[in-house]
Amino acid sequence: VKRDFKKILLICFVFLGLFLTGYTSLTPSNLSKNSYLKLDSTLIEISEFGGDLDVPWEIVYNPGDNQLWFTEQNGSIFRLNTSSGKKEKIFQLEKIYYKKSTGLFGMALHPNWKETPYVYLVYTDYTIDQDHNDNIFSKVVRYKYNGKTLIEPKNILDHIPGKVFHNGARLAISPDHKLYITTGDIGETHLCQDVTKLNGKILRINLDGSIPADNPFPNNPVWSWGHRNQQGLAFASNGKLYASEHGPATDDEVNLIQKGANYGWPNVHGYCDTENEKAYCADSVITEPLLAWSPTVAVAGLQYYSHDAIPEWKNTLLAANMKGRALRILDLNEAGDKIEQEHIFFQKRYGRIRDVAVAPNGDVYFSTTNTDWHPRNQAFMYDTLPPGGDRIIRLRKANKNILAGLQKKKVPIIREDQEAIQLQSEKFVTDLTGDVMGDGKKLYTLHCAACHQPNGTGVPETFPPLAGTDWVTGNKPRLIRTVLEGMSEPIVVNGQKFEQEMPSFNILSNRELALILTYIRGSFGNKAGEVLENEIFEERKGQKK
Ligand code: HEC
Repeated sequence: VKRDFKKILLICFVFLGLFLTGYTSLTPSNLSKNSYLKLDSTLIEISEFGGDLDVPWEIVYNPGDNQLWFTEQNGSIFRLNTSSGKKEKIFQLEKIYYKKSTGLFGMALHPNWKETPYVYLVYTDYTIDQDHNDNIFSKVVRYKYNGKTLIEPKNILDHIPGKVFHNGARLAISPDHKLYITTGDIGETHLCQDVTKLNGKILRINLDGSIPADNPFPNNPVWSWGHRNQQGLAFASNGKLYASEHGPATDDEVNLIQKGANYGWPNVHGYCDTENEKAYCADSVITEPLLAWSPTVAVAGLQYYSHDAIPEWKNTLLAANMKGRALRILDLNEAGDKIEQEHIFFQKRYGRIRDVAVAPNGDVYFSTTNTDWHPRNQAFMYDTLPPGGDRIIRLRKANKNILAGLQKKKVPIIREDQEAIQLQSEKFVTDLTGDVMGDGKKLYTLHCAACHQPNGTGVPETFPPLAGTDWVTGNKPRLIRTVLEGMSEPIVVNGQKFEQEMPSFNILSNRELALILTYIRGSFGNKAGEVLENEIFEERKGQKK
């Protein structure tokens, strides 16, 4: 009888355990477990934290204290207890330049946390010159965590030239304890091919800020060059370094980073595949990306995954996509020098995804960025963003046996997405009708309106207007070259100064460009004549010389 009782008790416990782990949400108030992801064989439980975060930029799991650390672009640093769901703000940068694509970016934690609880941050700071202009620059600062907050700041690398856009900046510490930093081209693309300049590079320094003796250029932190704007950086367990890089309107890249290598920006976009690029690559040693996306998905945070918890994802790169609103899983070959396949998950479900982290137990975390400058100013591109603040999502291997029960209870089970969404716009134009102004408007809406706005007004201080500007209604060859080549030098439009980047649209056909330019020259109150396909053709020919 006694033994039977024990048996019954044991069975009760097993059922209780199953009940608690599988079916109920044993959840703190700000953590909700609401859906599952099913891979070929693994079942993954999805939990959400937050909903009130303000642009989390870097998320890092710290094995040293078992907390998920994250930065917010506004200069705050938090620790998130992922069992209780409680977050604790530990630090706020007092002086920081936080506008558009500036602010607090990457963070790296010292691998020997117990002995040296150091936190490395990269953010934008500023001085104001005599003419009251902001002088923006990025800096890398090391702090010490004293159990409560960050103390004892030490400048590790200062005065990396900055702008309100294209500042990078991710940090990663290699298995042999060197600090790697990505820097953006700040719109001054000539800097990227000059190894004496810090922009458009991956930099490598010792953890105390000194320059390693085995860097490719003596007394120079530059490790690789010819980059545009890299916001993902990850080491694989074998020491290989991968970086993601934002392209202009085409050619987002994932690169395998080699010591002293040139990745080609601004002369090569993506692979060496156009006539001009082939010629350039024949003359210079350019390292091509492992993968390039056109149109861009806005690839940001990157992590290497090698845990047994999710065997389907072993030896892959996890890539966060902002514009693409997805988590992409990139299968590497065994040597790690080729991407063999790409899998897309969670498209449009959580909105824009900026960063990803992996915990020692194989859990994956990723963070959304639906409240930053871009969706606020280009809302037009994102008619499906989830409402509210940003959040952090956890993926954790679940017991497969609960699947049938979940299906019965109609719990949502997500699967891999079968194809990529149309990225440029929700409403992709495939059906031109032959009506010049109507077709021009469709193409304008697709390619230009996100920045210049549907009615051509632009966005003050950021995107110039197309209504009533001489750039649009004046000299046609100059207008055509503007869209073919893009533009990054500061310009004055209707008395206002603009210094953002306009991407090149040479991917569009002569016909598409002629339709767009005809449309903008005859809309928004503009009354200039049409642009013909042949005129685009002539300018393109001139470009090649
Ligand atoms: C990602 C945002 C973005 C997109 C998309 C974009 N532009 Fe621009 N455009 C800009 C910016 C920024 C400038 C100013 C560049 C500078 O300051 O160097 C600009 C400048 C211009 C100018 C010259 C200045 C003016 O206002 O008249 C024209 C003309 C123009 N764009 C047309 C277009 C057309 C046509 C398209 C679509 C094919 C387009 N742009 C798509 C951002 C964009």
